[in-house]
Amino acid sequence: MNEARTIAPAEGKLGVLLVGLGAVSTTFVAGVEAIRRGRAKPIGSLTQMSTIRLGKRTEERTPLISDFVPLAGLDDLVFGAWDPIPDDAYTSAKISGVLKDADVEPLKDYLETIKPMPAVFDQAYVKRLEGSNVKTGSTKRDLAEQVREDIRRFKEENGCDRLVMVWCASTEVFIKLGPVHESLSALEAGMESNDPAVAPSMLYAWASLMEGVPFANGAPNLTVDTPAIRELAEQKGVPICGKDFKTGQTMLKTVLAPMLKARMLGLAGWYSTNILGNRDGEVLDDPESFKTKEESKLGVLDNILQPRLYPDLYGDVYHKVRINYYPPRGDNKEGWDNIDIFGWLGYPMQIKVNFLCRDSILAAPLVLDLALFIDLARRAEMVGVQEWLSFYFKNPMAGPGLDAEHDLFIQHTKLKNTLRWLMGEEQITHLGIEYYEHQPA
Ligand SMILES: NC(=O)c1ccc[n+]([C@@H]2O[C@H](COP(=O)([O-])OP(=O)(O)OC[C@H]3O[C@@H](n4cnc5c(N)ncnc54)[C@H](O)[C@@H]3O)[C@@H](O)[C@H]2O)c1
Repeated sequence: MNEARTIAPAEGKLGVLLVGLGAVSTTFVAGVEAIRRGRAKPIGSLTQMSTIRLGKRTEERTPLISDFVPLAGLDDLVFGAWDPIPDDAYTSAKISGVLKDADVEPLKDYLETIKPMPAVFDQAYVKRLEGSNVKTGSTKRDLAEQVREDIRRFKEENGCDRLVMVWCASTEVFIKLGPVHESLSALEAGMESNDPAVAPSMLYAWASLMEGVPFANGAPNLTVDTPAIRELAEQKGVPICGKDFKTGQTMLKTVLAPMLKARMLGLAGWYSTNILGNRDGEVLDDPESFKTKEESKLGVLDNILQPRLYPDLYGDVYHKVRINYYPPRGDNKEGWDNIDIFGWLGYPMQIKVNFLCRDSILAAPLVLDLALFIDLARRAEMVGVQEWLSFYFKNPMAGPGLDAEHDLFIQHTKLKNTLRWLMGEEQITHLGIEYYEHQPA
C-alpha cells in the first residue's frame, strides 16, 4: 500500500466558472440547484452516486466516492459564466429548451441571478454565432488580462476559497497545432501580436492558469492541449484536462469497440451519423467547426483497435462520422451507427445502434464531476494533465509522447484506482488469486 497523499480540506466556497452559458451550462447549473432544493437526484454523476470498492471483496468496504475522498459539497458551489449572448441563466435555459418549464420555473429566482460576464469572442472562430456581450481590447493579451480581472473580482465578490474553470462554450474552428503553441513564450508573443492561431479558448485557459485555477475543456478545441499551456500548467502547479465531453455516440463506441477487440472479431466499417437541432448543432453545421469535432470523434477507433498490432482484423476499417443540423429535434439528438463486423472464416455480420439521447442531460453530470475532481486534484497538488479524468473525454489528453486511453471501462478503472492511490488504499487488480490458493486440495 502507498501512503495517502496530503490533500488540503475542501473548506469554504468553490466557484465554478463556466465559459459559455448555453444548453450544457444551464442544464448543469439548474440541475445542481434542483438537487440542492431536494427536487431531483444527481443521476449520471459518479461523485454523487457511485460507490468505490476498497480492499478485498471479503472486507465489504464500499463507501460512496463522496464519503471516501474530500470533495466540495454541492451547497458550497457558486457559479459564474462568460457568454457573448447577454441572456441570464434562466433566459438561456428557456431558449435552450432542454428542461421542461415545470423544472425551470421553480428555479427562476436563482437562475436569473447568474448573468454572463462579457466574453472574449471573435466570430472568426465560431462562424454561426453573433453576440453583443463582448470584451474589447487592442491585443489578445489585453483581452486575456481582462479575464484575469474577472476571475479575481468573481472570487472576491462571492467569497470563494477556490475556483475551477470549465469550457462549455461553442466548438471553435479547426486550428492546427503550430509554432505559436509550442512554448509559453511563443504563445505570449502571439497574444501580443494577435496571431490568428491563438483562439479565444486559449486566452481563457491562459488566464485561468495564470490565476492558479484548474481548467477542464469540454469541447474539441485545442485550448489546453498544447505544449505552451502544458508548460504554464507545470509552472503554476495547476491541473488541466480535456478534451470534448464523452456523452452519446462516442461513449457507446468506446464500449462496443473494446468488445469486438476482446473477442478478436474483425471490423470492416463503422458509419456514424447524427441529427441534432440545438445551437451546438447549428455551430457544428459550419464545416470549420465540424472539422474540429470530426477529428475528435475519429481518433477513437484506431486507438482502441490498434490496427498496427491486428492488421488482419482492423487494418482496413472504413470509419465515417456525420453530424447533421436538423432544427425540429432541438437538444434531443438521434444517433445511428451501422457497424460491419466479421467473424470466424471471415463471415460478415452487422450491428445497428440507434441512440435517442439528450445531449445536455448526458453532459451536465460530467461538468459537475469534472469541477469537483479538478478541485480535488488541485488540493492534492496533482499538476498538469490529469489522465485519470480521461473517462470524461472523447479525445483525452495524455502525458507527452503517450497514447491516451479510450476504452470506457479501462478509463473507469483508472479513475477509481487513482482515487484509491490518493487515499493510500490498495489498487484493485481483480486477480483474486488468494481465493484459489485457499481452496482445499
Ligand atoms: N452536450 C454534449 O453532449 C456535448 C458533448 C461533447 C461536447 N460538447 C460541447 O460542449 C459545448 C457546449 O455545448 P452546448 O450544447 O451547451 O452549446 P450551446 O451552443 O448551447 O452553448 C454554447 C455557448 O457558448 C457561447 N460561446 C461561444 N463562444 C464563446 C466564447 N468565446 N466565450 C464565451 N462563451 C462563448 C455561446 O454563445 C453559447 O451560449 C460545445 O462546444 C459542444 O460541442 C457537448
